[in-house]
Amino acid sequence: MKIDKVCLALLLCVAQLGHAEDYVPDMQEEISVQPKAADMHYFVPRDLTQIPQGSFGDKVRKGYELFVDTQQLKGRYVGNQLNCTNCHLDAGAKAYAAPMWAAYLAYPAFRKKDNRVNSFAERIQGCFNYSMNGKAPALDSPELVAMSAYSYWLLMGGLLDMFGMQDKPVPELSDKLLQQGGNDASFALPGPLNDRVKMAGRDKMPGRAFAALAKPAQEPSPERGEKVYAEYCSVCHGAQGEGRTMAGAPVLPPLWGAQSYNWGAGMHRVNTAATFIFENMPLGKGVQLNPQQAWDVAAFINSRERPQDPRYTGDLAGTAAKFHGDDEGYYGKTVDGVTLGSKAYPAGVQP
Ligand code: HEC
Ligand code: HEC
Repeated sequence: MKIDKVCLALLLCVAQLGHAEDYVPDMQEEISVQPKAADMHYFVPRDLTQIPQGSFGDKVRKGYELFVDTQQLKGRYVGNQLNCTNCHLDAGAKAYAAPMWAAYLAYPAFRKKDNRVNSFAERIQGCFNYSMNGKAPALDSPELVAMSAYSYWLLMGGLLDMFGMQDKPVPELSDKLLQQGGNDASFALPGPLNDRVKMAGRDKMPGRAFAALAKPAQEPSPERGEKVYAEYCSVCHGAQGEGRTMAGAPVLPPLWGAQSYNWGAGMHRVNTAATFIFENMPLGKGVQLNPQQAWDVAAFINSRERPQDPRYTGDLAGTAAKFHGDDEGYYGKTVDGVTLGSKAYPAGVQP
C-alpha cells in the first residue's frame, strides 16, 4: 500500500536529518519545522468511535474530552479562554498543527541545556503553564494520565492500521508508561511493529509540529500585519483579538489580551505563529495568505499585550535577556511606543 511505504520510509529515513540544538529550559522549546512535500500522505489515526469500552477506553475518552473542552479545567488548571484543540487542530489529529500522534512518539526527549529528559506528560505540563496561561496538573493526576492515554491511542491505533493490523486492539499500558511517551526502548510495540518503527527517527514523524515556511522577503511588519488582520482575521477573532464567547463559553479563541496565551508560550514567537497561520488560517479556507502576509500578521498579533511570562523575575529587561535571548518574539521590545511585557496581564490562574 502506497501510504504505508511513504510513511515507513520517512519514519526510518528522517533520522539522518539534523536536529535543532537550541534547547531552552522552559518546556516551550522550539521544535524544528519540517519541509513539506506537495504529494505527502500523512498518518491517519483511528476513528474515535473505535475507542474501546472499559477502564482504559474511559481514560482515552476522558483525554479526548479534556483536549477539546479544556475549559472544564478553567480556574483550576487553565487561566485563559483556550482549549488544546484551538492550536492542535482536529482534536490533535491534524498534521502540521503539532499533532499528538507525532508528539507521542517523540517523547521522552532529552534537552541539552538542563541536561534532563522530559516525558510526554511533562511536555503537556508546559502547554498548561504557557499556552493555557494556567497551572499544570501534577504528574500522575487523572488529567495528565487521560491526555497521555488519548495521545497514545491516536498513535498506536494508527500504527496498527498502517501495518495491516486493523483488528488488533490498542494494547493497554500502565499510567506510568502512558505518561512517558513512545521514544524509549522500554516502550513496547506489538511484535511486528518492533521491526518497523525503529528507535531512530521517532521524533521526526512526517507532519510533526509545523511545516517549514519560507523566510519573508521583507522583515515582518506589525503595521502591514494589521491590515492583513482586518481583512482576513478580525471577522472571527474580533477587532481587539478578543475572540468570541456564546453563553459564557468561548467559541472563537482570543489571539491577544488577558484571555490568550502568555508571553512564554511557543505561539508568541513570530516564526512559530507564522508557520501555524500560513498552513491553518483562516480556518476552513485552506492556504489563503502568501508567506509575507502570514509573517506580517503573526508579527501584528504577537506585538500586542498578553499575560506575563510566568518566569518573570520582576525585571523586564532581565527576563527578556534570560528567557527570550534570541527568540523571534516581541517580549521586551518596543512597538508603537509600547514596550511589550511592561503592561502584561497577570500570569496564571486568577482567583
Ligand atoms: C472563519 C473563522 C476564522 C478566521 C477567519 C480566522 N480564524 Fe484563526 N481560528 C479560528 C478558530 C475556530 C480557531 C480554533 C480552531 C479549533 O478549535 O478547531 C482558530 C485558531 C487560531 C489560532 C490559534 C489559537 C489562538 O487563539 O491562539 C491562531 C493563532 C489564529 N487562529 C490566527 C488567525 C489569523 C492570524 C487569522 C487571519 C489570517 C485567522 N486566525 C482567521 C477561526 C478563524
Ligand atoms: C496557543 C496555542 C496552544 C495551545 C492552546 C496548546 N498548545 Fe500545545 N503547543 C503549541 C505550540 C506552538 C507547540 C510547539 C512548541 C514550539 O515549537 O514552541 C506545542 C507543543 C505541544 C506538544 C509537543 C508537540 C511535539 O511535537 O513535540 C504537546 C504534547 C502539546 N503541545 C500538548 C498540548 C496540550 C495537551 C494542550 C492543552 C492542555 C496544549 N498543548 C495547548 C501551542 C499550543
